[in-house]
Amino acid sequence: MTSDVEFKAWRVEELDGNYKGTEQTLSTADLPAGEVLIKVSHSSLNYKDALSASGNKGVSRSFPHTPGIDAAGEVVESATGTPAVGSQVIVTGYDLGMNTAGGFGEYIRVPAAWCVPMPSGWGAQAAMIYGTAGLTAGLCVQKLLTMGARPEQGRVAVSGASGAVGSVAVELLAKLGFDVVAISGKADHAESLKALGATQVLGRDALAEDRKPMLKPAFANAVDTVGGLPLAELLKQIKPGGSVSCCGLVAGPQLQTTVLPFILRGVNLLGVDSVEIPLADKEAVWEKFAGDWKCEKTEASAKRIGRADLERALNAFLKGESSGKIILDHAI
Ligand SMILES: NC(=O)c1ccc[n+]([C@@H]2O[C@H](COP(=O)([O-])OP(=O)(O)OC[C@H]3O[C@@H](n4cnc5c(N)ncnc54)[C@H](OP(=O)(O)O)[C@@H]3O)[C@@H](O)[C@H]2O)c1
Repeated sequence: MTSDVEFKAWRVEELDGNYKGTEQTLSTADLPAGEVLIKVSHSSLNYKDALSASGNKGVSRSFPHTPGIDAAGEVVESATGTPAVGSQVIVTGYDLGMNTAGGFGEYIRVPAAWCVPMPSGWGAQAAMIYGTAGLTAGLCVQKLLTMGARPEQGRVAVSGASGAVGSVAVELLAKLGFDVVAISGKADHAESLKALGATQVLGRDALAEDRKPMLKPAFANAVDTVGGLPLAELLKQIKPGGSVSCCGLVAGPQLQTTVLPFILRGVNLLGVDSVEIPLADKEAVWEKFAGDWKCEKTEASAKRIGRADLERALNAFLKGESSGKIILDHAI
């Protein structure tokens, strides 16, 4: 066991119901008990981090707290021997950054069962460009493939296409040869969505409320990142035997639908969780992003920021003004 070391962290404190993050010096002795101590080089920014940093008790119950649901870096202590000291690992989800100090600090201490070995030839910066959002997009696409989705079946819709999950789903599906229809509320993102590989960009009105219980089948399969009414409308437009991977709720957590898409067209609604799933399922998707699923355009467009820029970047998420992938580089 090495002795405790001091490190920098962006830590959020509560004062009279207001939440404010600042850079602080902490000690590894301040971290929770756990099996693996990791020197974090990079983290990734997610909407959930913005919720944690703004005191959302559904995400983080007690403060002071270090957010950051994603982290990648080098193992410096390992009580279990696996992962080994000196190896690089990726940690996303489980309780990281929620009620366990997260990747906005230069060190984390977590259970060994949360650590995915870094795919060979890959690094922390690349992994954190994808982060939880990319992992979720990968899991959505993997579920469609497992259900037998193939490019020749027809167009695949992606809702919330300009978002962090949606944009990776667009690029990945296009890379795999699918004809991708991006559904987005941001007309000014149409060109960038086409650059990611979408063949067509539709406005959110493509999934606006329609009183008819079923609609003309328009898509063979879909990735839905928004939930709510748009998901209900999407289900009405899926071809017989098609599937929809569902992972998000920005348009609302309620799903008011009939059973008709399921019993008349055999449509499959596939739930996707990236947080509490078995480590092996995460590892399989990370290995793919490090190999055949590499999303060059997403990687090229990611922005790197330092801890000093976290507050501004997280506020942009809360205001819905964030776009593209942002990673935290602790060396900046
Ligand atoms: N299941 C999991 O494990 C998991 C993991 C990560 C994220 N998520 C969830 O997945 C969702 C997307 O995450 P994200 O990181 O991609 O978020 P994001 O970057 O904020 O993107 C969400 C996108 O949804 C669209 N949108 C926003 N408000 C909308 C509304 N009211 N109606 C319809 N569309 C709307 C916007 O895209 P356009 O302007 O292009 O339409 C927006 O860019 C979130 O609900 C998040 O909580 C789930």
